Amino acid sequence: MGEKIIPLADHRYLAAAPRVPSLLEPPTGRLSDRRGRPLRDLRISVTDRCNFRCSYCMPKEVFDKHYQFLPHSSLLSFEELTRLAGVFVAHGVEKIRLTGGEPLLRKDLERLVAMLSALRTPAGRPLDLTLTTNGSLLARKAQALKDAGLRRVTVSLDALDDTIFRRMNDADFPVADVLHGIEAAERAGLGPIKLNMVVKRGTNDQEILPMARHFRGTPVVLRFIEYMDVGASNGWRMDEVLPSAEVVARLDAAFGLEPLAPAQAGETAQRWRWRDGSGEIGVISSVTQAFCGDCNRARLSTEGKLFLCLFAHRGHDLRALLRGGCSDAQLAGAIGQVWSERSDRYSELRSSLPAEQAGHGGPRVEMHYIGG
Ligand code: GTP
Ligand code: 5AD
Ligand code: SF4
Ligand code: SF4
Repeated sequence: MGEKIIPLADHRYLAAAPRVPSLLEPPTGRLSDRRGRPLRDLRISVTDRCNFRCSYCMPKEVFDKHYQFLPHSSLLSFEELTRLAGVFVAHGVEKIRLTGGEPLLRKDLERLVAMLSALRTPAGRPLDLTLTTNGSLLARKAQALKDAGLRRVTVSLDALDDTIFRRMNDADFPVADVLHGIEAAERAGLGPIKLNMVVKRGTNDQEILPMARHFRGTPVVLRFIEYMDVGASNGWRMDEVLPSAEVVARLDAAFGLEPLAPAQAGETAQRWRWRDGSGEIGVISSVTQAFCGDCNRARLSTEGKLFLCLFAHRGHDLRALLRGGCSDAQLAGAIGQVWSERSDRYSELRSSLPAEQAGHGGPRVEMHYIGG
């Protein structure tokens, strides 16, 4: 009695192998889902482990020493990942983001970066190859990543104040080391660097102005993210969400802001620039202003399950196809079919979903497993 039940990592989220269509048509690069959304952005989680325990993502109470991370045998190899990525690129993917957990914990990640950077779109262009990191190992790895072909990085940074930062990462990690990582990335030419700050009302919202002040006038693009109800572990409450409109109002009052037009279709962030010309910022408002309408993102978990939404309950087991001996044409057929049947738009539906729906159809996927 009272013993914690730990689900077998591999069976934590429901996933079935997708059907391989009998009639295989070559990818056209113009795949479209049920809502007319193309597939452009693939996020690959390369590990479900992290050396931080951010309360909004991997709270210590859940992700403790008993937590079972994926066993090594479950992970896709770099060769398998690159092969799958090639099929996604044939279907129209132009951007690949490596995530985790903390992606820099995956051994020899530079080798994967080198393999992915050799991929070309059907029109012959290189990919926008990027990575989201907590910055803890960046000072050590920035140059090697750049040399391997990484184009840019996004660093998570929730506070400048060391006490608040250590409390938020819950691993007693000092902010100075992350700042050194950001400098190293800049020196290595991994810009434009974006910073992601998850804002929790009452926890780090007092850091909004100091963060803005610090990065104004630098090429770094700071983005303020609404705390989301992703997964099922973080104890999310609406009263801890600080709406982006309020972030913008505070920044406008302090420094003066004006809106910028979107740079690309399907972007997560709304862009703003400082009125005095000292750079731009972004706000990511998934809670108060959902952006599912043109969501072109697919996510691949560390063990090869494809998820079509950050809030999905189930994945599509591509590893089963890979290891079952499918050809590239068969993989492409199966992926094309899955995407063409996609209709996910969780953030748009959030407010109208009945509360008891949470957990319906299996647990919702966790951010450390599927990536940001
Ligand atoms: P850039 O290409 O550099 O602009 O990156 P991006 O904004 O597409 O990606 P990033 O991973 O930096 O996204 C920033 C944050 O937005 C993530 O950490 C999530 O909190 C949130 N986010 C990203 N994609 C989605 C999504 O598809 N749905 C929702 N609801 N939130 C997302
Ligand atoms: N809400 C919003 N963003 C989150 N991230 C992780 N958990 C959450 C959450 N609950 C994002 C952060 C972090 C990235 C790795 O994932 O942006 O930088
Ligand atoms: Fe780790 Fe990033 Fe999750 Fe924090 S948000 S626990 S750094 S994966
Ligand atoms: Fe895309 Fe799902 Fe996020 Fe909406 S909630 S933007 S569909 S990942």
